Amino acid sequence: MTQAHKLTDESSNGKRGELIVVCGAKGGIGKTAMVVNLAVALTKKNVKICLLDGDFQFGDIALALDLHSTFTIKDVVEDIDAMDRYALSGFLIHHNSGLKVLACPERPEYADLIKPNVIDRVCDLLLSQFDYVIVDSAGGLPEHTLQLIEKADQILMVTTLEMTAIKNTKLMLDTLQVLGYRDKIHLVINRATMESVIKASEVPEILGFETAFFIPNEFHLVSQSLNIGIPFVSNQGKSDLAKAVFKMAEMLVTRREISALKPKPNSFIQQIFRKTSKA
Ligand SMILES: Nc1ncnc2c1ncn2[C@@H]1O[C@H](COP(=O)(O)OP(=O)(O)O)[C@@H](O)[C@H]1O
Ligand SMILES: [Mg+2]
Repeated sequence: MTQAHKLTDESSNGKRGELIVVCGAKGGIGKTAMVVNLAVALTKKNVKICLLDGDFQFGDIALALDLHSTFTIKDVVEDIDAMDRYALSGFLIHHNSGLKVLACPERPEYADLIKPNVIDRVCDLLLSQFDYVIVDSAGGLPEHTLQLIEKADQILMVTTLEMTAIKNTKLMLDTLQVLGYRDKIHLVINRATMESVIKASEVPEILGFETAFFIPNEFHLVSQSLNIGIPFVSNQGKSDLAKAVFKMAEMLVTRREISALKPKPNSFIQQIFRKTSKA
């Protein structure tokens, strides 16, 4: 049994996990493909990963991982006040990579049952026992996605090189900036090697970023992976596509380790305490 299979009281390092929300200005730009592959790539880092399908109307995570949704977040709703992390673990689906999944409701009309208190509670309970909770979200800024973005520690904003994608990504980024979330956003340029009027290397500057993750355009690999429900990082690990996702996973883990090492700024109380103990 690997560490990722065990259900313990805490994430592997005993700290609250990190909420990573993958979002995009529109559908069809590769969010789901990114989420499942990034999540599976992270399981290889000996950390505990849970994937939450936050596209509560039309989520594809179960399909993309070839999982049978025995339970979904809709089942959690009915018991939300009494829910604790042990009860919640009974609603998670196990994937053979070690990943756990909380699936979206089986019908779009059930999405309205997922109220803000449910999202809050579910995320907090998951973060208390997993190192990373990766969320796939509905495109654009519907209320559910906005709440997830607000709660996120890190946001991966996926775009392609298409003019409409870039225009809408820019609008979405402007809104998120006004809301004060700009600092936690990383840009992911998907299908970066595709032929296009706009070059991938120009996109970060256009969107106001210094850097970005570049994911190659490999339609056959990605669509086959989504269709058969096997992430390409599992069976095409040597491809440039998989390597790009492994690199992203590496960066996320390293970044977290570095921020854990940084000394926290002294709190007011700590400063007072230091002054009194010197006196
Ligand atoms: N890196 C990529 N290269 C080529 N095609 C891709 C890539 N990423 C996604 N696609 C294709 O884009 C389509 C939409 O992907 P999906 O992950 O379902 O998007 P979303 O979740 O944003 O709606 C799929 O047909 C998929 O094969
Ligand atoms: Mg999707």
